[in-house]
Amino acid sequence: MYHHIKKLMYTVNVGSPDPRFGNMLLEQFGGANGELAAAMQYSIQGLNCEDPDRKDMLMDIGTEELSHLEIVGTLARMHLKPMKKSRDAAEADPLIAIAGGGGVGLFNSMGDAWTADYLKITGELDVDLRSNIAAEARAKIVYERLINFCDDPGTKDALQFLMTREITHMKAFTAALESLGKDQFSIGKIRPTPGLVDEYFNDSTGAGDQGEIDSRGPWNTGGKWKIVESPELEQGAERQSEKTTAGNHKPAAEETGKTRVKKSA
Ligand SMILES: [Fe+2]
Repeated sequence: MYHHIKKLMYTVNVGSPDPRFGNMLLEQFGGANGELAAAMQYSIQGLNCEDPDRKDMLMDIGTEELSHLEIVGTLARMHLKPMKKSRDAAEADPLIAIAGGGGVGLFNSMGDAWTADYLKITGELDVDLRSNIAAEARAKIVYERLINFCDDPGTKDALQFLMTREITHMKAFTAALESLGKDQFSIGKIRPTPGLVDEYFNDSTGAGDQGEIDSRGPWNTGGKWKIVESPELEQGAERQSEKTTAGNHKPAAEETGKTRVKKSA
């Protein structure tokens, strides 16, 4: 059950409203990485969760995100309010000014409607926790950019609070994932194919116009990694040489020991 308490989780003060900045703030209200998306994602994951301990965490954090929505909505409203009466302010976003009367709506900063497509809910707890860690990282960087584009001390102060809580949640989700005790690359139940799982395909080859080179790092070298050089090009060259050497005689699939897949029209 939800219960609303008539106070904000964090006090919001705005010195001088900035309608253009208010529009940017909508990204955290009705945008892809915003507070409503976070609140819905975690709460609905919680409804699906059969692990009572992690379910409690998902519901705690999902509910806190609703309180964040209230803070960022209040903040955005304070910045957008002048649009209702001032023609100059209305120029910042005619949609909000004319259709919305200078109020917040479930839109992002470009006026696109909020959508449930933003939510990542798979019904697999460890997979969902990974999505949540990534969601918190995105929300953190969006708040950081908003802080960098803001001059108002009161607004910055509230944004600093919200940004900090994203890291707090990221820590909680990370600890919850680790506490499951699963191997880092163990997802679901079916095991990946041995050998193939350790092959790194070098699919971007050659030297680029800007002097780009084939890079090596822990993502393709060391441990069990095996670099496979441009498999598509290799196979293409192989097919080409087969055609050339075969001349008029086209070997049957059995002769080459390869199964040929018929191309559909
Ligand atoms: Fe949040």
